[in-house]
Amino acid sequence: MNETIGLIGIGVMGSNIALNFSDKNIPVHVFNKSKQKINSLINKGTNTNITGTTDIEEFVNTLPKPRKILMMIPSGKPTLDMAKKLMDYLEPNDILIDGGNAYYLDSNKLGDMCAKKEIEFVGMGVSGGEEGARKGPALMIGASKPVNEELKKSLSSISASFNNKPSIGFYKGHGTGHFIKMLHNGIEYAEMQIISEAFHMLKKAKFNNEQISNFFKEFTKENRSSYLIEITSNIMQKKNESGYIIDQIRSEASHKGTGKLTVETSLNYGFPLPSIYEAFNARVESNFQNWWKDKLEEKEIDINIEFLRNTIYFARLATMVQGMLFIEHISSTENLEINLKEVLQNWSAGCIIRSDLLKELEGVNLSNTITSSGFVQNTLLENLDSVKNVIKTCIDGSISIPVITSSYNWFVGTSNSFNPSSLIQAQRDYFGAHQVQLNNSDEFIHLDWD
Ligand code: 6PG
Repeated sequence: MNETIGLIGIGVMGSNIALNFSDKNIPVHVFNKSKQKINSLINKGTNTNITGTTDIEEFVNTLPKPRKILMMIPSGKPTLDMAKKLMDYLEPNDILIDGGNAYYLDSNKLGDMCAKKEIEFVGMGVSGGEEGARKGPALMIGASKPVNEELKKSLSSISASFNNKPSIGFYKGHGTGHFIKMLHNGIEYAEMQIISEAFHMLKKAKFNNEQISNFFKEFTKENRSSYLIEITSNIMQKKNESGYIIDQIRSEASHKGTGKLTVETSLNYGFPLPSIYEAFNARVESNFQNWWKDKLEEKEIDINIEFLRNTIYFARLATMVQGMLFIEHISSTENLEINLKEVLQNWSAGCIIRSDLLKELEGVNLSNTITSSGFVQNTLLENLDSVKNVIKTCIDGSISIPVITSSYNWFVGTSNSFNPSSLIQAQRDYFGAHQVQLNNSDEFIHLDWD
């Protein structure tokens, strides 16, 4: 009975995680204010190992020590309030796990709060949506000490796995698991937008929904597919009594903030993640589409399918590399010792961005930095002509493809031997005496522009 997990939060994700534990013969004791919700969860379980209570004190006291309490509640204030409440009941060596979509700096704060009471805090990013939580999510775990072995075993048994290895990553620091999850979501935004840009092109090339579905299905044959590409292929085929569902959905994208936090974090570190910025902006911009009196003239385009496939691959790889470089940057700035191979393994199954690309990258020699592997640069170069062709087609057809173009600009911009920022520095110094550094000198000087 020692492995019992205490669970707070039985919304969609929490309930599915509870059922997943239960299936693996790990007892779950739930706290919820509603007896009815607890009963409904118990009824859904196929085993008899889910119990519950509406009394928080009873909940904590029933759990075997050291207690392992998983919070699956909305991030921010609700999580903080619950953690504060639990501080009155928990004892040294108990373990508090935050499995919500928490901002990683909040996890660091929660970790500090728990440490004062000698309670172990584990910040756990959970990916895979509803189905993942039920059948096997990817878990990104941040803790300041090695995680309790029994808990590790329980989490491994509910997670997805790839090559017989559970999709769990253990990272140093209370917030690091949630940092990895946040970046995962930033990449998720970019991948979703890249696919949507391809959808836009195919629509303009007069592909019908079935043909678009097939276009995405074909990626599997080339081992270049992903979970998001697969679900896109399914989405394009789905019909109801009024026809294809995709044609009935408003083109106004929402978000719950994780992509925004990725963008903000990279800005705070002064580190470029252009493909993710553009993906976030595209969602926001989709809600502001009615400024112009006249719409642009619709033009049919002629798209080269092979080039489009290569372009999607290029943009996805460029995005992934930007994300990996950011992880490397944070890891060295904050001394987190994050192992990129572990992140790739962590994301290879269960999570929303799982893909053939991640598996491919896992096989690449990453001894130094992700860009030092010949594979990345050569693959981007090999696909560059296709990308140029697709971008030209989109310019002619007045199609906006912000993530694809920013991925192209990022690669070309960082590969070029000339960069025009010398002029920016000169302008800043000219009007504001902001100083420049001359080639071959680290000294900042103000030049005489008169
Ligand atoms: C996952 C997802 C999941 C979710 C977020 C982001 O990994 O399972 O990333 O966390 O989709 O809620 O959703 P938004 O698109 O609303 O930001």
